[in-house]
Amino acid sequence: MRERVEIFEMAPRDGLQNEKRAIALADKIALVDCLSRAGFARIEVGSFVSPKWVPQMADSAQVFAGITRAPGVSYAALTPNLRGYEGAKAAGADEVAVFASASEGFSRANLNCSISESLERFAPVMEAAKVDNVKVRGYVSVVTDCPFDGPTPPENVARVVASLRDMGCYEVSLGDTIGQGRPESVTAMLKAVLNEMPAEKLAGHFHDTAGRALDNIEASLALGLRVFDAAVGGLGGCPYAPGAAGNVATEAVAARLAQLGYDTGLDMDVLAEAANLARAMKGQGDV
Ligand code: HMG
Ligand code: MG
Repeated sequence: MRERVEIFEMAPRDGLQNEKRAIALADKIALVDCLSRAGFARIEVGSFVSPKWVPQMADSAQVFAGITRAPGVSYAALTPNLRGYEGAKAAGADEVAVFASASEGFSRANLNCSISESLERFAPVMEAAKVDNVKVRGYVSVVTDCPFDGPTPPENVARVVASLRDMGCYEVSLGDTIGQGRPESVTAMLKAVLNEMPAEKLAGHFHDTAGRALDNIEASLALGLRVFDAAVGGLGGCPYAPGAAGNVATEAVAARLAQLGYDTGLDMDVLAEAANLARAMKGQGDV
């Protein structure tokens, strides 16, 4: 039997958050509903962040309310603080994610606070989620390169991963936020991180700005990672990371993994349908 590699679908959140044009609620719901038929175990639906910071995600509670949930799919939300957690819980998110940075420059730009302040804000989220029995995923951004601080030392990534592990994150996703990682820098980063967390609890989150995301996924596979974040249609970018392009496209990752002999459990026809929907939503007015 072929070994399983999971793709965690990001398009409704990471894919759409950067769009300047207001996308209709019905279109967001239709995208999630289409993705629910593709065979994903986890789909990131939205984020409960300040609407002033990320206006496109302001209707995440309505998206959660409007989707038709498929059995066995975990519908996830980003939560930067307790207020966000409470919103996500009220909306019925199955799991949430806190997101930290490996560089001080990006932490300031994305969360308006230092790395250690961000971790302090996550502590009450972790406590509340534990009481509610809600799983919390962790993200670390700019794991190889930061648009403000330059190359990221691998030990800085390992330190933040260790903090998220100690707080109780069940998995940590490593974000190449601006898509400048190379197989060598990804490998060096992973070697440091693997001293703190085993490969089974790590995920790779590659943006494809420089067209190296698939190579970086292969480098991560070689070190044992078996979960990768991706967005259908290659949608995405981070509004607080200048120059960040889309997430690596789910359909491209699924095709590469199939070539390499892995099983993703995804229906390629439904993926193509979702990718078309996603691309149409991007429409005119792209940044
Ligand atoms: P702040 O301005 O420092 O904090 O923002 P604040 O407490 O002063 O709040 C500002 C306003 O937001 C206030 O409203 C709060 O009430 C409100 P006002 O009084 O001005 O009317 N507020 C909230 N509203 C809704 N939900 C909340 C919430 N919290 C406060 N949860 C804050 C701090 C963290 C809120 C802000 O910096 C923020 O929302 N940042 C989120 C940025 C973001 O979503 N970035 C994209 C996601 S991360 C990403 O894409 C990377 C990833 O994909 C991995 C990778 O690629 O690397 C995950
Ligand atoms: Mg991202």
